[in-house]
Amino acid sequence: PVGAAEFVPGGADLGRVRAAAAECRGCDLYRDATQTVFGAGPAHAPVVMVGEQPGDQEDLRGEPFVGPAGRLLDRALEEAGFQREELYLTNAVKHFKFTERGKRRIHKQPSRTEVVACSAWLATELDLIGPDLVVCLGAVAAKAVLGPSATVGPLRGRTVERPDFRVTGTVHPSSVLRAPDREAAYTEFLADLTYVHDSAR
Ligand code: URA
Ligand code: SF4
Repeated sequence: PVGAAEFVPGGADLGRVRAAAAECRGCDLYRDATQTVFGAGPAHAPVVMVGEQPGDQEDLRGEPFVGPAGRLLDRALEEAGFQREELYLTNAVKHFKFTERGKRRIHKQPSRTEVVACSAWLATELDLIGPDLVVCLGAVAAKAVLGPSATVGPLRGRTVERPDFRVTGTVHPSSVLRAPDREAAYTEFLADLTYVHDSAR
């Protein structure tokens, strides 16, 4: 395992980078997963949202945020005033990591090593898309975008400036699904996405 960087083609557009990512063997996660799940959305979207990694359904369909977390995200995006098609959605890690429990595949959090190994794809996406605003969904995304000490709490309802874009964040939509008080968690999630909508130029 050598990291994704040596699989990233130089001077390619997003379509060719996506095709190259399908062949990535930059860490061991490609072995058990079905396929690379690359980001999706307009090539010059002003807002990029970064999740953690594909889940079970994303792994099978090859598209980000098409499972339960994606449906919750879709609903909140619409309520916040976004159309999903105007956003570019991607993940810090492009292959599904899981443990098998009976017939079910249970999501497992990617290690720091795997996030770093995969980071060249995210960096290339951000570089080619050139968004104005990057939205980190959860701590893994925050660390992938801002570095290992980043957390998502300080990003909720505010933006920080980076040389190439501004960064904001909220919790991961799966955490809303798991929250003991799901309705309260959803209300806060929606408030953060409404802030994102107001902050997007
Ligand atoms: N969770 C994520 O972080 N990304 C997806 O694409 C789906 C679920
Ligand atoms: Fe490559 Fe990322 Fe998949 Fe690892 S998780 S094989 S670095 S695309």
